[in-house]
Amino acid sequence: MSMLNDRLNALEDYPFTRLRTLLTDIPAPEGRAAIDFSIGDPKHAPPALLTEAMAAAADSWNRYPPIAGTYDWRQAVSDWLVWRFGEGGRLIDPDVALLPASGTREALFMLASACVGSMPGGNEPAVLLPNPFYGVYVGAAQMTSAEPVFLTANRQTGFLPDLDALPASLLDRTALFYLCSPANPQGAAADVAYLQKALSLARRHGFVLAVDECYSEIYHRAPPTGVLEVAARFDGARLDNLIVFNSLSKRSSAAGLRSGFVAGDPTVIAAFRRLRGYASAGMPMPIQAASAALWRDEAHVTENRELYRAKIDTAERIMGDSLGFYRPDAGFFLWLEVGDGERAAERLWREQAIRVLPGAYIGRPAPEDGNNPGQPFMRLALVHDIAVVADALTRLMGTFSAMAGD
Ligand SMILES: Cc1ncc(COP(=O)(O)O)c(C=O)c1O
Repeated sequence: MSMLNDRLNALEDYPFTRLRTLLTDIPAPEGRAAIDFSIGDPKHAPPALLTEAMAAAADSWNRYPPIAGTYDWRQAVSDWLVWRFGEGGRLIDPDVALLPASGTREALFMLASACVGSMPGGNEPAVLLPNPFYGVYVGAAQMTSAEPVFLTANRQTGFLPDLDALPASLLDRTALFYLCSPANPQGAAADVAYLQKALSLARRHGFVLAVDECYSEIYHRAPPTGVLEVAARFDGARLDNLIVFNSLSKRSSAAGLRSGFVAGDPTVIAAFRRLRGYASAGMPMPIQAASAALWRDEAHVTENRELYRAKIDTAERIMGDSLGFYRPDAGFFLWLEVGDGERAAERLWREQAIRVLPGAYIGRPAPEDGNNPGQPFMRLALVHDIAVVADALTRLMGTFSAMAGD
């Protein structure tokens, strides 16, 4: 018997730990500066108003922050939701349908504990998640009594899970469905019909639909539809069964601030708030002040988005349609099909000092055929400045041309 939770022991190493292990004995070429594309760590500067607002609130560091957020923070987020999602934003009553999250990561994780309980008839509860995925969903599901069910999201399914392929017997025992739109890693944004179907399924089968929209502001075409817009337009304009997450990490290049929010069904929010009363430290008051200032400003978001869009344009110019390149709807990842993502990662490190994430590390063997849909891919986070990105992608293309000739 282990002293520690055996569910924790059963978790695979986090993807970046696996990457470190893969590359540990492989020397990078001498004289080449290493470029890390493996991790989505924003590198654009956040706007000065972040530090200004934080400094102006410095007299509140002594206080324990309210779990529900300050009035000012709730107002700022609520105004942003209305600005961005119109009627959908108006569905969110900031007093009962909104909570701050110290980074959406911890809130996404904790949500599973709030949602997974016993199922009628003694059925094993299920948590649905896209495959490939953002790793936190897997850890969150596996630390509960639920079975994580991996839903293939590949080119054939439009890089989102195929909702028509879900059997009623599975949906009936589903407690929670993590849907990432725009998706990490593939950059696909769900459209109105897709989101409407997902929400209908959640209501018909009584599970919580958690939509992770943290890339919603880094778009390269039209602004992606938010699930709140869809909720406002059909089935009685209500929030039942729906929870949505968003974050300042990508929108405002403020990952270090650890600031996001959870909004949606007041019943779920109330349960979540109860849980967070025990488990969450609350978002420090000066961080709430800085966050409110960032949600109130769009100029820096437009600039930030333009920087990413220019890099996607550059990638498109350099890559054409090589390695299955396609222009993502949103986000800052390239999801490139290279045959074997692990071998590609080793070779790029050995020959170019370029670090990429093998797609297999953010995927699992699919239940239907045992194949990991991430295995043929590698993920690149275009977080460096445009000159570095252009140089690295040109070198990368050189390596793959050479591989084709091997
Ligand atoms: C899909 C997705 N969701 C959520 C997060 C967490 O963001 P944060 O905790 O910084 O708000 C990330 C971060 O990389 C992500 O890629």
